[in-house]
Amino acid sequence: MSEKRIDFFERRKRLSSQLLEDSIVVVASSSIKSRNSDSDYPFRQDSNFYYLSGFNEPESIIVIRPFAENKKFVIFCRERDSLREQWDGFRSGQEGATQNFGADEAYGISLVDQIMPDLLEGARNIYYSMSSPNGINIRLHKWLDQIRVNKRQGSEVPENLLSLDSILDELRLVKTEEELFFMKKAGEITCGAHIRAMKSVSPGMYEYQLEAEYLHAFINEGARFPAYNSIVGGGNNACILHYNENNSELIDGDLVLVDAGCEYHHYASDVTRTFPVGKRFSEEQKKIYEIVLEAHKQASAEIKPGNPWNKAHNTAIKVITEGLINLGILKGNPDDLIERGEYLKFYMHRIGHWLGMDVHDVGNYKKNGKWRNLEPGMVLTVEPGIYILDTLEDVEEKWLGIGIRIEDDLLVTGSGNEVITANAPREIQDIENLKS
Ligand code: GLY
Ligand code: MN
Ligand code: MN
Repeated sequence: MSEKRIDFFERRKRLSSQLLEDSIVVVASSSIKSRNSDSDYPFRQDSNFYYLSGFNEPESIIVIRPFAENKKFVIFCRERDSLREQWDGFRSGQEGATQNFGADEAYGISLVDQIMPDLLEGARNIYYSMSSPNGINIRLHKWLDQIRVNKRQGSEVPENLLSLDSILDELRLVKTEEELFFMKKAGEITCGAHIRAMKSVSPGMYEYQLEAEYLHAFINEGARFPAYNSIVGGGNNACILHYNENNSELIDGDLVLVDAGCEYHHYASDVTRTFPVGKRFSEEQKKIYEIVLEAHKQASAEIKPGNPWNKAHNTAIKVITEGLINLGILKGNPDDLIERGEYLKFYMHRIGHWLGMDVHDVGNYKKNGKWRNLEPGMVLTVEPGIYILDTLEDVEEKWLGIGIRIEDDLLVTGSGNEVITANAPREIQDIENLKS
């Protein structure tokens, strides 16, 4: 598969066409965070910053000025420094920022307080990401104060600070062909990892050893980092939604739930499979699994353009409630049980979320108080589950400690959806065949 090049100029152009007149956009990068006195956490660029620039360095700020005659796109970034580069690695510097990242002008980040007021002056509106915890709001006020000081000399102070998020979130929510290339690749690598794990799991392994199979498969395919901390839960651990101690022994006769996905070129995948530690599902495990699988199928069928986002969720609740009634785990009339939320004891999260550069990606789920309709190009997860914690009372012992989730990544197409993570088996027979 050849690599795709993302057209960042086009992205900035699309954003610019949606701004109010005389507006400027300011976005700051992520920072490096120290892990211990020797090393840092792996650097992950702020998604909005990367989306608009492709620039992958910390201590940087981009400025987009569609209204201006010149300096329409400016990057502030670290200066070249041979000593620091020998220790910490390559820096693009200002020359690299203009030559390789399309900046009309680039400055050293150390000059930002000196230069930014001039760039802001003359704009009426300043858009910035209110959701980013990087302190850019405080810095903007400081720069505005600097402009105000010169007001009597004729400086024009911008009037409005506006949220960039609502506009940029909508752009990021609907994926382009280029983005889908990376998302599909992330999905493909993740499915390969699940297949590897299904084949290699065996009783007596520890959860972290199974996790290692995923990390190997991700990194070996060029996805250096998981998109989130992998959840590898054997037996009852599968019922703990955000379990990630991953330090228990995997026991013959138990299932193991693995929620793991890689990040590829800043795009996430998010896939859960639940499979036997040994060779086969038990009869009880099969019965619960089949309900979750049916919920997954029926919910997935509701992922199509024009359907409200919540429809898949309600479908899953119905299938799960009816399935649990059939097994005698819930007792009563399905509508009453749904009304009273009885299913929440066994299925306590939503059907899924938007997926993209972030695992729980940006984009509103409601518009004007109503669940929004799906549109082609949106990518979302479908991830129903049933979790029967071993401490639950009023549930027959044979069901206790079974936790199952099946999660896939779906692209809304013109007529329905495409499951971009379909390569990892979901059917009981297909999973068991892999292990024989
Ligand atoms: N892996 C996080 C989630 O499934 O939402
Ligand atoms: Mn998910
Ligand atoms: Mn997940």
